[in-house]
Amino acid sequence: MYPIDLLPSPSHIFNDALWVMQSLYASRRVSNELHPVPADFDVNLHTNTGFLPPQPLPKLQEPFDVWEDALSQAQKVLKLGEDLLEEHAEERAEGELWRQRIRSLPTLTTETLHQEPQLLRRAHKVLAFLVHFYVHSIPPDTRNGSQSIVVPLSLSAPIIAVSRVLRIAPVLTFADTVLWNWDLVDPKQPATIENMRFGQELFSGTEDERNFYLGSARAELIGVQMLHIFNDYHNLPNVTDLSSISKINRLLARLNTVIQEINASVQSMRQIVDPHVFYWEVRPWFNGSGSGSGPSAPVWIYEGVDDTSKLDLSGPSAGQSSVMHALDLFFDIDHKLRQRRYPAPSDANKHADRGFMERMRRYMPGKHRDYLAYIAEYSRPIREVAQNTPAIREAYNTAVTTLKKLRDSHMRIACLYIVTMSRSTTPPVGCPMFAMAKRMEREAAKSGPVTGTGGNELSLLLKAGRDATARTVLKH
Ligand code: HEM
Repeated sequence: MYPIDLLPSPSHIFNDALWVMQSLYASRRVSNELHPVPADFDVNLHTNTGFLPPQPLPKLQEPFDVWEDALSQAQKVLKLGEDLLEEHAEERAEGELWRQRIRSLPTLTTETLHQEPQLLRRAHKVLAFLVHFYVHSIPPDTRNGSQSIVVPLSLSAPIIAVSRVLRIAPVLTFADTVLWNWDLVDPKQPATIENMRFGQELFSGTEDERNFYLGSARAELIGVQMLHIFNDYHNLPNVTDLSSISKINRLLARLNTVIQEINASVQSMRQIVDPHVFYWEVRPWFNGSGSGSGPSAPVWIYEGVDDTSKLDLSGPSAGQSSVMHALDLFFDIDHKLRQRRYPAPSDANKHADRGFMERMRRYMPGKHRDYLAYIAEYSRPIREVAQNTPAIREAYNTAVTTLKKLRDSHMRIACLYIVTMSRSTTPPVGCPMFAMAKRMEREAAKSGPVTGTGGNELSLLLKAGRDATARTVLKH
């Protein structure tokens, strides 16, 4: 067996304290100055692209071009394995050939990429797309009842290697689908939203999928203004004199507008992404190991890895957006219910997945995680400052309330796109996913309703995040 030297995934040796210590150490190390600057964390304020790189990712060259070729081919021929439509029989046969070719690819070592951040990102993205294409294009009836799918060494070894250098999960992430999934309309012009084209790589090939990435990217780019605001706050000489207090009020008012704009961007999804297409044709490609399509969802085995269950393999989510985490950390939203705040958490809040947000950080590039740790460690936490300074409390509370409203409208969107679709819709007979829906119905009849991100757990999770945000508001 090819020896993949797999220490436990970094995520599994992290506890909170270690995470902060390592991150602070990393941030000190990258800069000789007293305060690290955002660029130390791959946060691009100079180009106003924030957590997106300043330039699109260049394609990989020899010998890695075999991955690029396989990805172009996948986008042309592969269908979801659950898609049993007669008219796609030819594509199913081509799909089997494609997977055979993937299994016979050489297992490339990636050292030559390790000093090239843009190429490393590209390698992660291409390999992550290939892994999801590989797994989700396998027709379930060819699995012979097996509860696992083996991801071949030609993909597992290099994705683990590049993920370790980037300190990111070895699976498709928000970074792959959004932060790193664009190019320029006019390569001579700068990377502005007008000059960027999203969804460079797609699974379903639908405009809905492209727009899903676009909507998420828009929120990220609006978030760049937020990063400037954090920087301005951090650079204030003090937080007590009158001039600083009035500056903080202005910064908080600007931040409030930014959150409203992010909210508008989340809501714009309704116009550009069809819930049926999203639920039945796009989202199934995102499922990670053991998730989606009911209790029979297979777990993934990364060939060459001693214990794949130690890897973070749950797939992409906008819950991995560093912008949203940065807002939470700046305001000190207590998702883990560690603080005594008012009103007390409900039983439902206590039963929700409190570790979700923290877990999602493991799917971010390591440097962005370091940036978040840096914000969390600000020597002047804004909530404390607002608590001690009545003159800024209102501005602080207004911005936090706007964030709570953002979570309210996001919950409505998630409900419409996922909960409603999973509970009440069976796709029409001609829909590619008809067979899957029928199978899920049969499984639900045997083992009770499907839970997980399709139903109750999702509502609990999102409500708990919304309530934790409401609880952050300071009492007058
Ligand atoms: C059609 C659009 C969207 C749908 C269907 C959707 C759905 C979901 C779902 C199902 C979750 C739960 C975790 C998971 O299973 O991944 C989630 C979490 C999350 N989503 Fe979205 N989302 C959408 C758009 C967005 C956008 C544009 C943003 C960017 C601001 C966003 C930010 C978040 C955040 C931050 C979380 C973590 C939970 C929280 O902070 O409340 N989502 N979303």
